[in-house]
Amino acid sequence: MNSQAKPTWTGEDKLSRFVNLLIRTKPIYAVMRSQARRVMIKTAQKNNIPWKQNVQKLENAIARTGPDQTLASVSNPNIKDYPDYYKKPFHAYDEGNLCWTAAFEAESATYATALRVWPQETLTWETAQQRMRGSFFELIDQHAPNPVNDVLDIGCSVGISTRAIHAHYANKQAQPPRTVGLDLSPYMLSIAHLRNEDGSIAEWLHANAEETGLPSDSFDVIALQSILHELPHGITPIILQEAKRLLRPGGCIAIFDSNPESAVIQSLPPVLFTLMKSTEPWSDDYYTFDVESALYDSGFEHVVSAATDPRHRTLIARKPKYSDD
Ligand SMILES: C[S@@+](CC[C@H](N)C(=O)[O-])C[C@H]1O[C@@H](n2cnc3c(N)ncnc32)[C@H](O)[C@@H]1O
Repeated sequence: MNSQAKPTWTGEDKLSRFVNLLIRTKPIYAVMRSQARRVMIKTAQKNNIPWKQNVQKLENAIARTGPDQTLASVSNPNIKDYPDYYKKPFHAYDEGNLCWTAAFEAESATYATALRVWPQETLTWETAQQRMRGSFFELIDQHAPNPVNDVLDIGCSVGISTRAIHAHYANKQAQPPRTVGLDLSPYMLSIAHLRNEDGSIAEWLHANAEETGLPSDSFDVIALQSILHELPHGITPIILQEAKRLLRPGGCIAIFDSNPESAVIQSLPPVLFTLMKSTEPWSDDYYTFDVESALYDSGFEHVVSAATDPRHRTLIARKPKYSDD
């Protein structure tokens, strides 16, 4: 039983069930979805994120290489189908993460997300992004091995989180790490490839995080940045187990996501939480899931959890150095 505080608009609360009923009502859902997208684009443009220009640039670049050829070049031929939970509509896209529109818009949407963390301050989107990632890296640094030679970013999307974690280590160590980004969407990975202009990321891997096919004991740090809220209850423990297998003894898993205990999240105005739920199909599962206990159950130790910014939490846990630890 999960005893953590959670927003009343999630789980089995009356309010949550009422919102879910609205979302299940098709015409209402359609309005919410397009409204959610409109709010996101408006927030971005108001804050000087050039949403339309960014999309246009990426569209042109993919048109030049050819969409089908691009997808074929990043796709893992062993992935024949996608899990049902992944094929749900996400973020106002019918095909969820499996379409070009989602991939073209992901970069601007990610920047807009960071701006929402500090609404009272007049931050540029670049500063907001750096501050949000920086607070996460700061906590990792207190617990991760030193130096970090191999980093895996699970749920890397278009690669913003991957490039950020790589740059963090490249700036603080004599040798930059070998950094790998992994995602289940070949559309997102196509953009990640394209935006890896300096070639600093060693590899972009098209794989399901549940079963990556990567060798055991091969990473010092594994980051999961804003992926857990996209997973149903039953899947998160499988991915935690896989991450533990991939980590070297003494290596760390580092999770960053929305904080169910955050006062800001708990008191979101009804319009915002309704829009949010309409675009995140697994939010009830996420907000009622006890990640800390799941980490211990998966065999991790020294689990640390902290509110690293007003909306997010970071959880760090270590793979035991010795198997009988
Ligand atoms: C919100 S995005 C993460 C963004 C990025 N990490 C960041 O912090 O900017 C979540 C990503 O997780 C990926 N994802 C969801 N389920 C997955 C799975 N089972 N295996 C691999 N990737 C998955 C999605 O394709 C999506 O790109």
